[in-house]
Amino acid sequence: MELTDAIYQRRAVRHYTPDPVPTTALELLLKAALHAPSAVNQQPWAFGIVRGQDLLAEMSERAKVFMLAHLPRDLAMHHLSDEFSRPGFNVFHDAGTLVVIYAKPAKFDPIEDCCLAAQNLMLAAHGLGLGTCPIGFARRWLDLPEIKNELGVPVRYTAVMPIVVGWPAGPTPPVPRREPEIVCWRETPGRGLSAVPFPFAMPATQKPPPGGA
Ligand SMILES: Cc1cc2nc3c(=O)[nH]c(=O)nc-3n(C[C@H](O)[C@H](O)[C@H](O)COP(=O)(O)O)c2cc1C
Repeated sequence: MELTDAIYQRRAVRHYTPDPVPTTALELLLKAALHAPSAVNQQPWAFGIVRGQDLLAEMSERAKVFMLAHLPRDLAMHHLSDEFSRPGFNVFHDAGTLVVIYAKPAKFDPIEDCCLAAQNLMLAAHGLGLGTCPIGFARRWLDLPEIKNELGVPVRYTAVMPIVVGWPAGPTPPVPRREPEIVCWRETPGRGLSAVPFPFAMPATQKPPPGGA
């Protein structure tokens, strides 16, 4: 798969088949995550793996109770809060595998490093035909000291990015992207930089629907 195809075609997948993700595939995803860049190569990430639909369904119920009680005001007003409070709604989308990327204490921007690792993992999964979805909704719950204790995660580690992984139950339609907002583009005048040839054609950016996405 071309790298740009992977970037353009990866989707947040919210419907999974019950088929398990093989351990070898999971190991490949972790390896891809490890290859992310990190500030001064500090590699400040650690990974928590939870496997099993039943286990994740139970964790979903507990995460929902916590999140609905602690939702930030703006999110509580959001239409999604109705969806999350719907009985039976699984915040992990009934996936059978959850990878939580934790930031270890580090001097230089460990959260940013972990986000880059997360994107590597999601692109690698897409390359293997697996679907992923970041689950920000469960992040604060997973970061609670008692939950980290329960999972055996050092309390000083920070839950940065929970990501569910599984086999997509079907295609996921693309979500529109806006044009890039270029707030600044300066270059040395008179050097003909705009005329430098580039051998690749860029696909058209998906336009948001009228009125915005
Ligand atoms: C930090 C972060 C948190 C997210 N949290 C959730 C979540 O809790 N539940 C969910 O279904 N999707 C979640 N998403 C997925 C986004 O909704 C999705 O990436 C976005 O709508 C764009 O769709 P696409 O990934 O298919 O391009 C999250 C994405 C990010 C980056």
